[in-house]
Amino acid sequence: MDKFIQIAIDGPAAAGKSTIAKIMAQKLGYVYVDTGAMYRAITWASIHHDVDLDNEKAIMALLSETRISLAPGGKVSVNNVDVTEQIREPDVTANVSKIATYESIREALKARQIALADAANVIMDGRDIGTHVLPDADFKFFMVADPKVRAQRRHEENRSRGIASDLVSLEADIKKRDEMDANRKHAPLKQANDAILIDTSALSIHEVVDKMVGFVLK
Ligand code: DC
Repeated sequence: MDKFIQIAIDGPAAAGKSTIAKIMAQKLGYVYVDTGAMYRAITWASIHHDVDLDNEKAIMALLSETRISLAPGGKVSVNNVDVTEQIREPDVTANVSKIATYESIREALKARQIALADAANVIMDGRDIGTHVLPDADFKFFMVADPKVRAQRRHEENRSRGIASDLVSLEADIKKRDEMDANRKHAPLKQANDAILIDTSALSIHEVVDKMVGFVLK
C-alpha cells in the first residue's frame, strides 16, 4: 500500500488551526481531519444522553456506540445526526477539555484518527497529532498566537455563527482550556521537537497559508 502524506497541525485553542487547515487541504487536495470536532462530538453526545461527565467508563461505553463522521464540507455528524452547530455551543466548549483528559477516550479517538490517515493524504489538526497520533508525520506545525488575538478571532467567529459571545469571558475560557490541555497527564498539548513553530498573531490567513504551503511544496 502506498504511504499517504500526513500533515500535522497542533496548537492551543483558537490559534487558527482549523481555518488554515481547511484552506490548505483544499489547495493541496488533501482530506482535512478536525480532531477537536471528534472530542466535541463525544462531549455533545454525553451531554445529550445525560451521561455523567465525571464517569469515564460510561462515556467510553457511549463512544463505542457512537459513529462520528466528518464530511469534506465541514459537516460533523453523530450517528447520522448533524451536530455541526451544536458542538460549538458554550456547554460543549466548557466541558470538552475535561472529556479530553480521559485516557480511554483519547486512545479510542486516536485509533479512529490513525485509520483516517491510513486511507488518504491528510491534514489533521489538534493538540497531540505531531506528538502522539501521527509521530512520523511528513510535516508538523505548531501554531500559536497571543491569547488576546485568539479571543478576538473566536469572538468574531462566534458572532458570525450567531452564537452569544463575550470577549472578556472568552479570553478567560481560552486560557483555562489551554491550561487544562497543556497540563493533562495523557498526550498533553505540546510542540513536537521536529515541529515548525508558526506564530499567527500578526499574520493574515493568507500569509499563514502561503508560509505553510511553502514548506510542504518546497
Ligand atoms: O480545537 P478545538 O477547540 O475544537 O478542540 C476542543 C478540545 O478538544 C480542546 O480543548 C482539547 C481537545 N483536543 C484534544 O485534547 N486533542 C486533540 N487532538 C484535539 C482536541
